[in-house]
Amino acid sequence: MHTFDTPLDRRGNGSKKWDKDYIQRRFKTSREDVYPLFIADMDFRQDEAVLQAFRVFVETGDFGYFDVQGSFYDAIQSWYKDKLGTPVEKEWIVPANGTIASMHFAADLVSKGKPIMMLTPVYGVFKDIATNFGGMVTVPLLKADGAYSIDFNRMQQEIVAQSVGTLLFCNPHNPSGRIWSFEELAAVVRICKKHGVTILSDEIHGELNLSEKPFVSLISFMDEYENIIVASSPNKTFNLSGLTASYVIIRNPELRQAYQRELARFHITINRSGMTFISAVYEHGRGWHNELIAYLKGNLDLVAECFDGLDLEWMRPDSSFLVWIKLNKVSDVDRFVVELAQQTGVLVETGSRFVADYGNHIRLNCATNSGFLRDALDKFRDFYMSYED
Ligand SMILES: Cc1ncc(COP(=O)(O)O)c(C=O)c1O
Repeated sequence: MHTFDTPLDRRGNGSKKWDKDYIQRRFKTSREDVYPLFIADMDFRQDEAVLQAFRVFVETGDFGYFDVQGSFYDAIQSWYKDKLGTPVEKEWIVPANGTIASMHFAADLVSKGKPIMMLTPVYGVFKDIATNFGGMVTVPLLKADGAYSIDFNRMQQEIVAQSVGTLLFCNPHNPSGRIWSFEELAAVVRICKKHGVTILSDEIHGELNLSEKPFVSLISFMDEYENIIVASSPNKTFNLSGLTASYVIIRNPELRQAYQRELARFHITINRSGMTFISAVYEHGRGWHNELIAYLKGNLDLVAECFDGLDLEWMRPDSSFLVWIKLNKVSDVDRFVVELAQQTGVLVETGSRFVADYGNHIRLNCATNSGFLRDALDKFRDFYMSYED
């Protein structure tokens, strides 16, 4: 039984979220008593069963050139089959660098200088991908009953008007954690197929499903539309982001071979420790993963309790440990975030780090021990209650 309640001391070990200089630059504070709830990684120690598998690798003492092992593909295939209910063939899987890096290579390959569309607000790095390759077209998500939905008409109009070549799709959505339904995904695929738009689906948040809704990977649509690329990794779910390894799934053999050639052109391969950890978490980390989900649900209950009665609107994520919050009292969210940091030590992600349509939102990471989270939430609550814009 893993104890998520045990704090993981990350100060001074290179963790960006806990680095004093980085915090000073971002939040203009040098307070010691900080509550870093911004960057999306978790303050939980890695599962012992996974660490043990990695120790076995270290003990081989062999870190020379290597071929990707069959066990890497087996681990991904059985994870997708058992946990996500989506069969994946071994040859569809392309080992790659970090998820974002692998999407840059995909965008370079498929965009062919045509604009890249995204549904906003969305994860800030999507803007870099689009502006590096072909330019960016944004379509605002609709908001009703406290949840985002897709404006299919606007999406279609913009695809035609701007000659969009690629849709960079966040499934599930970051920052809201929304899991798109099968019907919504079918509509996205229908529109993209009709207009010859390649879909590049970032599914990194798909493995941390806290809801009763099924997470549907766009892999399920690869038989009906050949221009779909899925990029994913356990980097969020199992806290492996420092290892910069991931995989891409492409069913269409021509597209897949073109992607493999693109990686080969730059001599890009997965690194051995990343590969070993990905296999280990999918194979040995299932118990830890179940306990993590239960723990995070408890943390979201704490958020609900603390936000009760406050003048804000928040979205309980279907998937992920991130909470997207609209602060009704706040007009300048960047200023608010710095003042909150300076006066309470609570460090949250400002909405302006996301692409477009972020308004007066902030994002809060609740993947930390619940005692610490409760203290941070209490401080946030007191500050927000007395806040005057
Ligand atoms: C939607 C999304 N994609 C990708 C990443 C980063 O992936 P990686 O660290 O594997 O490049 C993040 C990190 O927050 C994310 O939210």
